[in-house]
Amino acid sequence: MNAPSPTVSAHASGLSYVSPAPDSPWSTYLSQIDRVLPYLGSLARWAETLRRPKRSLIVDVPIEMDDGTVRHFEGYRVQHNLSRGPGKGGVRYHPDVTLEEVMALSAWMTIKNAAVNLPFGGAKGGIRVDPKKLSLKELEKLTRRYTSEIGIVIGPQQDIPAPDMNTNAQIMAWMMDTYSANAGATVTGVVTGKPVHLGGSLGRVKATGRGVFVTGREAARRIGLELNGARVAIQGFGNVGSAAAELFAGAGAKIVAVQDHTGTMANPNGLEMGALIGSARLHGGVGEFRGGERIDDEAFWETDCDILVPAALEGQVTAKRARRLKAKMLLEGANGPTLPEADDVLAERGVLVVPDVICNAGGVTVSYFEWVQDFSSFFWTEDEINLRLDKIMVDALKKIWDTADRHRVTLRTATFAVACERILTARQERGLYP
Ligand SMILES: NC(=O)c1ccc[n+]([C@@H]2O[C@H](COP(=O)([O-])OP(=O)(O)OC[C@H]3O[C@@H](n4cnc5c(N)ncnc54)[C@H](O)[C@@H]3O)[C@@H](O)[C@H]2O)c1
Repeated sequence: MNAPSPTVSAHASGLSYVSPAPDSPWSTYLSQIDRVLPYLGSLARWAETLRRPKRSLIVDVPIEMDDGTVRHFEGYRVQHNLSRGPGKGGVRYHPDVTLEEVMALSAWMTIKNAAVNLPFGGAKGGIRVDPKKLSLKELEKLTRRYTSEIGIVIGPQQDIPAPDMNTNAQIMAWMMDTYSANAGATVTGVVTGKPVHLGGSLGRVKATGRGVFVTGREAARRIGLELNGARVAIQGFGNVGSAAAELFAGAGAKIVAVQDHTGTMANPNGLEMGALIGSARLHGGVGEFRGGERIDDEAFWETDCDILVPAALEGQVTAKRARRLKAKMLLEGANGPTLPEADDVLAERGVLVVPDVICNAGGVTVSYFEWVQDFSSFFWTEDEINLRLDKIMVDALKKIWDTADRHRVTLRTATFAVACERILTARQERGLYP
């Protein structure tokens, strides 16, 4: 591959679409691949396969708006790697979504699915749109047309979308219905994260937060940190952050700071979770909560705490913030929250990072359970789901921890080593066609 230009984006320079723009999620992913190469032995011969998405589909999504005008939206579905099974990964609706971002997110899904040993490859999709500016009818039309356009590459055996940022169970229901209408049969297994009475799984909504808690609990045990009384700070109080917060509080930890887009609330004695969740639901964020003190957003990164959970956006933990963190452990609930330079700072400072590609894998694990349940039309209890999720996460982290000890590397590089070995072994065993 050509060396990536440090300053020029692929589009502006005429470089290949796989050449990364500086500081983009795709460049972060490529640098993570560079770091794992020395641990792949002879499999490194196949590593180029990880630097190129297998298939990238760009679609035009035209819809008639409520006022009679016609608007066109840009949509993507990227299947990064299918060596271990069908593609699996969410669909994001956001005005800033780009092909390059979707490529990175699909690549992280390849790594994540292999790290927890699910029989899936990695995929991701997105539409450049601000869904808050659409009516419900327009959102439904957009979703149905997008599903129809990507219908040539998705399917229960090909690629199974799921919710991501700004998409939810209702959007998955429309996707399932559109795909089924075109197929002439109800195909519940084409998407996961559906409503429970349409073939969705119990436990899916809180699964990512539960996985963050389980990996945090196991990592804490290994470093001798007692969860009962531990101080936890969380950025993001949405699906992932609030579910993780509830479980940590249930284990006796104190949630000493929570930040979302409405502000940062802190209480060194612990924020009361039931009341905080109620307030956040009522006011659309934590900013109005009366059971804590409002602090400056930047001060969040200096909170006196044992565990810090970024569970909101990409690129939040910069090198500058990493130097000021007081936590012993960082649990990456969000995808790509830590920049590569910050990773180095945290490693030097002895802060343990449980990386996104294992820490937030609870969601896709229960998505896998949903897909299995849809195929067999036999549904499990929530207790069964939570127990199986716990076991998969504990086993995966153990293997990663052993690999980190053996190679004396960070958990991130160890997770990539475990995952890439599985992906490239599959690639090698399948062989190249023709
Ligand atoms: N939901 C899942 O199953 C799942 C699975 C794997 C990874 N993730 C990742 O976890 C992260 C959060 O996802 P989610 O499903 O909880 O989303 P969500 O939309 O439910 O919640 C996002 C949270 O981030 C907060 N936020 C937004 N902008 C912010 C800002 N500038 N500063 C501080 N907080 C801000 C929002 O207020 C909200 O509380 C994303 O990176 C997502 O890709 C989610």
